Amino acid sequence: MRIAVVLGSNRDGRFGPVVADWLLKEIGVRPELRAELVDVGAVHLPTTLPGRPSPEVAAEVAKVTPTLADAEAFVVLTPEYNHSYPAALKNLIDWHYDEWQAKPVGFVSYGGISGGLRAVEHLRQVFAELHAVTVRDSVSFANAGSQFDDDGAHRDPSAAGAAVKSLLDQLTWWGLTLREGKEARPYGS
Ligand SMILES: Cc1cc2nc3c(=O)[nH]c(=O)nc-3n(C[C@H](O)[C@H](O)[C@H](O)COP(=O)(O)O)c2cc1C
Repeated sequence: MRIAVVLGSNRDGRFGPVVADWLLKEIGVRPELRAELVDVGAVHLPTTLPGRPSPEVAAEVAKVTPTLADAEAFVVLTPEYNHSYPAALKNLIDWHYDEWQAKPVGFVSYGGISGGLRAVEHLRQVFAELHAVTVRDSVSFANAGSQFDDDGAHRDPSAAGAAVKSLLDQLTWWGLTLREGKEARPYGS
């Protein structure tokens, strides 16, 4: 099953890539899953949502849209900024519509004391509007910087591994079930 891992932070000096690398390794040991990274930090989408994008903007959009369209499931990786998720992540979400539809979305969150849990709850509301299904279990890293060593390895791999297993098991069930459902009948929104 094809998964797009959406890395939702684009801040200079961001911690997100450490969590993304950990997640991609966890997905990589499951032969039934194939992950591709969509990094909001690697694409410059305007916040004005132009009716007719310029060639430059269209080229930026083309860096991410095919991967989102091709994905059968998503894991959104979000930090928490002021009790919610980053503006750059919302912008990427808003630039797309059909790409999210009738697909499952799981969350890996991180932050300070909150572990990004409030950001995830806000994202669940957004993805419901986009006809996506969010899976129940998420992975959350409170005070994330202290949970990983200098090589990006998690200091308590068994707990983190159990959490990501639940998330990926649920994501896989939904992804395969929706694949079969869409083969049987197109999703009508
Ligand atoms: C603008 C801003 C707001 C933040 N607000 C919160 C917050 O409300 N709750 C929290 O637990 N951590 C908060 N943090 C801490 C971040 O979640 C934490 O630094 C995380 O590593 C940021 O992700 P990034 O490094 O990938 O950008 C905030 C950080 C920034 C930069």
